[in-house]
Amino acid sequence: MAYEETTAHSPLLPPKPIPDLAAGEFALFQALVLRESGIHLGAKNRAMLVSRLWKRLRALELNSFSAYYRRVKADPHEMVLMLDCICTNETHFFREPAAFDCLRQRVFPEWIAQADANKRTRTLRVWSAACSTGEEPYSLAMTLLSEFPPSSGWCIEVLGTDLSTKVLARASAGIWPTEKMSDVPVQYQRKFMLKGFGPEKGKIKAAGEVRKAIRFQRMNLTQEPYPVTGPFDLIFCRNVLIYFEWETKIKVVDRLGKLLTPDGYLFLGHAESLHGVADKLQFVAPKVFPAPKVPTARSGALCILQRREKAARD
Ligand SMILES: C[S@@+](CC[C@H](N)C(=O)[O-])C[C@H]1O[C@@H](n2cnc3c(N)ncnc32)[C@H](O)[C@@H]1O
Repeated sequence: MAYEETTAHSPLLPPKPIPDLAAGEFALFQALVLRESGIHLGAKNRAMLVSRLWKRLRALELNSFSAYYRRVKADPHEMVLMLDCICTNETHFFREPAAFDCLRQRVFPEWIAQADANKRTRTLRVWSAACSTGEEPYSLAMTLLSEFPPSSGWCIEVLGTDLSTKVLARASAGIWPTEKMSDVPVQYQRKFMLKGFGPEKGKIKAAGEVRKAIRFQRMNLTQEPYPVTGPFDLIFCRNVLIYFEWETKIKVVDRLGKLLTPDGYLFLGHAESLHGVADKLQFVAPKVFPAPKVPTARSGALCILQRREKAARD
């Protein structure tokens, strides 16, 4: 029988108690996280902050949140790791399927008609801002590659960005547990997903054609200048604005709007319907692309914006 050395965190030793997070310490982290990421931590996030940062305290063998705060301030690498802990990364393939239905039914026919009339090129530039572990940009890439095959002269470029380096590493790997596959429509599973076997059993991997279409980059939506080059035909920025304060949401949406092509679309998560959000943008959904009269499991309240000058031209 093999024996392992007992470590400081061995189950044989009583677990170290989690230090208290004093009100003053919480306020320091609140201000720091807000400044560095735009994420607003309310009083109800206090327990979440403790449990997420505790991992870092343990790893660094620090015994107070003040000591960890000083460490984060002094060490830019630790700042990145701290933000990795703070970010909530829940995502899945084809999240809010109504958005993908809308692309296929309303947006793609427009692009095809414009290309046929030589009013646009056959290159489509798409950005998943706050892409987490990649399910969103891969869902977009699969949808686009199916509708606009490179064999017909189309070129698909998908950019995935996020603040968290941890999720970007997973997104770039393009490998997920097989259970994730259930959200991927069967026709795309067959075409774009590889099932692992042997030591890779239980995993799925995106096929080369999809991986080639996507690139990833770290980017903070709340810090200008944005290190991306527009314009984009389509921007997805879903389920991230909810973490920001109102003024920050408005600024982010405004900046994203400036990076759209004149006919481009900005998709926000349905929970993020923002009325009067940006002067230069107008809502096309739910206004113009309404949800079906008889709601189905797929029909969410879409929140899609376009530049105002497009409406004036039409
Ligand atoms: C809940 S996930 C949403 C993922 C995907 N867009 C979706 O709807 O499924 C939110 C993501 O926003 C990222 N995030 C949080 N603050 C950010 C910021 N200031 N800049 C860029 N990304 C940020 C987090 O790291 C996280 O991966």
